[in-house]
Amino acid sequence: MSEQPAAHDTIAVVDFGGQYAHLIANRLRAMGVFSVIVDPHAPLSAYEHAVGVILSGSPALASAGEESGWNTGLFELPIPIFGFCFGHQEIARHYGGEIRHQAREYGLAELHVQTDSPLLAGLGAVEQVFMSHGDTVTTLGAGFVELGLSRLGDGPVHRNAAIADETRKRYGVQFHPEVDDTPNGARMIANFALDICGARPTWKIADHAGGLIAQIQQEVGDRGVFLLVSGGVDSAVCAWLLARALGPDRLHLLHIDNGMMRAEESAGVVAALREHGVSDNVHFIDATDQFLSALAGVVEPEEKRHIIGRVFVEVFQQAAERIGIADYLLAQGTIYPDTIETGATKRSDRIKTHHNRVPIIEEMLARGQVIEPLADLYKVEVRQLGRALGIPEQMVSRHPFPGPGLGVRCLCADSVPDGFDAATLSAWIDPIVGPRGFTALPLPVRSVGVKADLRCFDLPVMLHGDRVPHETLEVLAGSIFKNVPAINRCVLWLGAETPRRATLHPATMTAARLAVLRAADAAVMDGLSRHGLMAEIWQCPTVLVPVEIDGEGDGRAGELIVVRPVLSKRAMTARAAALPEALLAELWEEISALDGVCGVALDLTSKPPGTIEWE
Ligand code: XMP
Repeated sequence: MSEQPAAHDTIAVVDFGGQYAHLIANRLRAMGVFSVIVDPHAPLSAYEHAVGVILSGSPALASAGEESGWNTGLFELPIPIFGFCFGHQEIARHYGGEIRHQAREYGLAELHVQTDSPLLAGLGAVEQVFMSHGDTVTTLGAGFVELGLSRLGDGPVHRNAAIADETRKRYGVQFHPEVDDTPNGARMIANFALDICGARPTWKIADHAGGLIAQIQQEVGDRGVFLLVSGGVDSAVCAWLLARALGPDRLHLLHIDNGMMRAEESAGVVAALREHGVSDNVHFIDATDQFLSALAGVVEPEEKRHIIGRVFVEVFQQAAERIGIADYLLAQGTIYPDTIETGATKRSDRIKTHHNRVPIIEEMLARGQVIEPLADLYKVEVRQLGRALGIPEQMVSRHPFPGPGLGVRCLCADSVPDGFDAATLSAWIDPIVGPRGFTALPLPVRSVGVKADLRCFDLPVMLHGDRVPHETLEVLAGSIFKNVPAINRCVLWLGAETPRRATLHPATMTAARLAVLRAADAAVMDGLSRHGLMAEIWQCPTVLVPVEIDGEGDGRAGELIVVRPVLSKRAMTARAAALPEALLAELWEEISALDGVCGVALDLTSKPPGTIEWE
């Protein structure tokens, strides 16, 4: 993050390419400690203002010497160093310990604290921690002690889960303190940063605006900038920031209606930008026909995304030429999770392609024609920044909405997925749900998910039974995911009749289907507002699934609507949110009365194994 680092006590986070490295910086910033991300090969001058260093995890194997050759000269620095996972192993090895490829642990474990340390101040004797490693520190070098070991239930004991050399102030933990699954991890990071390093928590997101503005001015020089605004939080904050940096006259804003926007959305977005005077040049194009004809007959999710991304760029290039600003820089409101999900970091797997990372944009990025001022931030930080810039609360607190809009929520299919066998799946799932009073119906469509950091395209299953508490449903869904690898999503049918048969309705992207989805989405958004749930719920996609459900004597024709309310902090992980029974009943009434809809289901899937969106 480029800012005057000398103004703050800084913790340097060395990024070895793990999926969570940016999360460490985010955790530090959330406690007011300024942090910078440093390349492992950077010269020692990169640590000039650092009062401490954190070494991140990595997909590399320390035991195989992968990622060796980085600048270990930093171990000579007289400041505290704390390593997580791979970073922990590198510390142990540097000071004479041994690393072996053995004793893997994935998922939750318990840390059993053996020895007091300022690093663990305020923690219990046993703490839940999140593990993801194949290498282990088997012996420690001189000066180091074992602070704690880990185990899961009655499972085997893993030594050296937390280690320290208090004299040199070198610390390591085998687990990931930065993730939400290590509930007291933020406390350990705070103990390190605030107490052991003595960093003063002087950093505020409002200060960050100044740094970003200076950075934009420097990158842009005297050129003009062209920004596509979707109406979402990220592009709105980006627009306000660019306006501050460049003034409203050098900024051109373009809103494209791709035909996949929410009800009344485009008109609202354009009106808000004009009303607040963000730019003197607000352009609007209704390109519905161009998008829908490019998508005609396409069913593959990745192909849809690529087409939507490509047509966006075509429409904007045509507009830029017409308006006479073709040599302007393209600005994008890309935020950090957008790049990680597209597999932009060293070895992170591609989960899905975001529209702002399609090949043509990648080419423009490589040519230096794109600026992305928010690329290091998470959504919470973008919202804080938006408030600091004085953006109206109603815009800042909007739910995230994907760039391709309803396009990723209007599922398309031309055939039943290969190998789909409802009878075999049911034979597997029924013994799990039957004893709890539920029926299960596998659905003949695929939806995207993420398991163990890898993308998966698996099947949903629909449950039906008497209403039980939401937590019970979440546990039931969890046991299906654990026992039936072909299933990555679980939904609850909200109708009274037991669903008996699910039939694929071959379907592509059409204006008529989008209109059905738009009406259902509007009903869900209105319902959440009516029940005062907008702020509590992170995001609530409504999805049109090309499957018809038949129940006993319940022969409604049409497709399935799935409502997907989630609780999340950064969209990297999520939990299915519960909705009040009264709201579910209202949504069933209102949505299943729409022409083309056979009924409504509620998504119970956490992320992982499902993603927030279905495509
Ligand atoms: P998933 O579905 O991967 O989504 O759990 C994480 C967050 O990203 C949003 N999302 C997108 N945003 N273009 C975007 O601008 C996209 O193609 C896209 N796909 C997912 C999603 O809504 C959620 O907030």
